[in-house]
Amino acid sequence: MIIDLKEKSGLGLEFDINKQELFFDQDLKSTLPAIRIIGQMREVLLEKDIKEPEELYYMYRDVHRFSDVSILEKHKLRYDVTVIKPVCLGKEFMKTAGHYHPGDFGELYEVVHGQCFCLLQRPNLEDHRIIEEVIFVEAVAGEKIVIPPGFGHILINPGPDYLVTSNWVSSSFSSRYELYKSAEGAAYFVVLPEGDSQVTPSLRISAEIIKNPIFREVANLRFVRPAKQITRFGLIKNSPVYNLISKNPKVLDFLNHPLDYEYGDVFVKASGN
Ligand SMILES: [Fe+2]
Repeated sequence: MIIDLKEKSGLGLEFDINKQELFFDQDLKSTLPAIRIIGQMREVLLEKDIKEPEELYYMYRDVHRFSDVSILEKHKLRYDVTVIKPVCLGKEFMKTAGHYHPGDFGELYEVVHGQCFCLLQRPNLEDHRIIEEVIFVEAVAGEKIVIPPGFGHILINPGPDYLVTSNWVSSSFSSRYELYKSAEGAAYFVVLPEGDSQVTPSLRISAEIIKNPIFREVANLRFVRPAKQITRFGLIKNSPVYNLISKNPKVLDFLNHPLDYEYGDVFVKASGN
């Protein structure tokens, strides 16, 4: 079975579920994925002894059209594609390991296929076991998620389909995974409902959300949806973010100069309507 990613990503990409592999059209640089396996995730799981599945998600970094190489170098940008399985990790919904960025760098995600929860957390700068703000973003294919400066992030696949995301990010730093590992995960775990479950406001997916006891203080969750349009960043729902690099790369300047921009309107309250 094939997932055609062309419409939402704007690129000739297909994910073959049987082969667990992304296929690239001829105008694209074909890259091999970094594969996140269960053994690398053990510290951040709620249930640390689970053994399956072996492979959790696939990170295809620096995907691009051959014709865009010079413009990507000039603007210091990288485009990645991540494919996340629709399988639970014990009780937990499938998720990424989680990371912070150095300095104030943010990121721009796009949901290309499936449904996505993105859990953002902003730690106190003196004590990273105090989380001052937690944002729970619910998004579907075609929607964009702007990660503001200062927020660590994980992606969660609540299923039932594969979750495929793309992202634009500055090419001038490497992500930092240590704080998520030492805190044994994000501020909250999102698990299949059993006891006290709550329905997420807009996607209507039942989930139990458990506070990670390692943190000293954690802010309450704020449930949000991505704004449908953010003109200064060139973002419009269902309009692929890859195309920004050829149309108007200046709108991605916020990824390299994050503090020159405002982020107050990138999310709207999740209302369930
Ligand atoms: Fe990131």
